[in-house]
Amino acid sequence: MKDLKSLLNVRYPIVQAPMLGVTTPAMVAAVSNAGALGSLPVGGLSPDRTRERIHATKALTDRPFAVNLFAHEPAKEINEAEITTMQDFLAELCLEFNIPFERQNPADFKFYYYEDLIEILLEENIPVVSYTFGRLKPDVIAAFKAKGTILAGTATSVAEAKLLAQDGNDIITVQGIEAGGHRGSFLADEPSPQIGLSALLPQVADVVDVPLLAAGGIYNQHTVKAAFALGASGVQVGSLFITADESAASEAYKQAVLNAKDTSTQLTRAFSGRWARGIQNEFMKRMDAKGISIPYYTIQNQLMSLIRAYAQKNNLKDFIALWAGQAAGNSKRASTEEIIKGLIAML
Ligand SMILES: Cc1cc2nc3c(=O)[nH]c(=O)nc-3n(C[C@H](O)[C@H](O)[C@H](O)COP(=O)(O)O)c2cc1C
Repeated sequence: MKDLKSLLNVRYPIVQAPMLGVTTPAMVAAVSNAGALGSLPVGGLSPDRTRERIHATKALTDRPFAVNLFAHEPAKEINEAEITTMQDFLAELCLEFNIPFERQNPADFKFYYYEDLIEILLEENIPVVSYTFGRLKPDVIAAFKAKGTILAGTATSVAEAKLLAQDGNDIITVQGIEAGGHRGSFLADEPSPQIGLSALLPQVADVVDVPLLAAGGIYNQHTVKAAFALGASGVQVGSLFITADESAASEAYKQAVLNAKDTSTQLTRAFSGRWARGIQNEFMKRMDAKGISIPYYTIQNQLMSLIRAYAQKNNLKDFIALWAGQAAGNSKRASTEEIIKGLIAML
């Protein structure tokens, strides 16, 4: 098996998890400058925003960093009735909580997919491309391979890991159920995979022959060592960076993370239409209680975008997607440099 550190061209086998909405170029650069691997999330962003963020990161580091994509399929259909019911509910809720609400027309939605960003990543000579929510198309994999790009797909089950290995990924990120943020799951399993990292990692290590990055609930020396003992070659840590000085999380979000307990998070589709782990709040509870059908990912994400942006700006924690993992409460306020150096010291 190839060595993870040489594949990533880093001194330490630690990856700062890409966290769309939280990770900034300054965070990525601080991690890479410390000798680990920063990851810049650009899933769903426009080509212009993507280029801008890559340039902003390059201005702060000459060390390698990863760029992270969302590899999901477009929504198969737009269900107007479902969207109308959802918007009626959101309008009612916003009125109750004094949040401005703007009804959106699905015909105006503009989504960007990973295919829109490949040219930019190739042109910018991005050394490592990680992704979640799916598999890359064969021609995209071939284009990256021709360029020598290292590819890292995300698996939440053994079957997903096998497919990613077959596709030619150099590394597989193994995401346990503990992990904060969206589940990377992409097979239409019913029920969707909910496997803890300590069960998933060794079972994946048994059947694939590429280095594994362990993601989910890693926060101290025990969890770092356990990941290696269970078959990982490196760790990918997300939640610990939400409270970093360089994080884009609002103050209300940071406070919620600092106050979180092991029991504070749950999986929800309420904010985006995809399963994701976040700290429980009023919006999740209301959506659960209402029990209406939630539109598919990207559609629900779009319907919620203005409410989320308003909540983030105004520190309304009950309407922010407080993505965080089961061990997020162990976070501390610190610079990204201090956080990554703390993790390096645990190796
Ligand atoms: C706020 C937040 C945003 C995330 N966004 C992304 C993302 O854009 N792309 C991705 O591949 N994973 C994303 N994830 C998942 C992480 O890559 C990783 O699996 C997770 O953070 C690891 O678990 P931990 O949070 O317990 O450390 C996100 C996680 C969080 C907490």
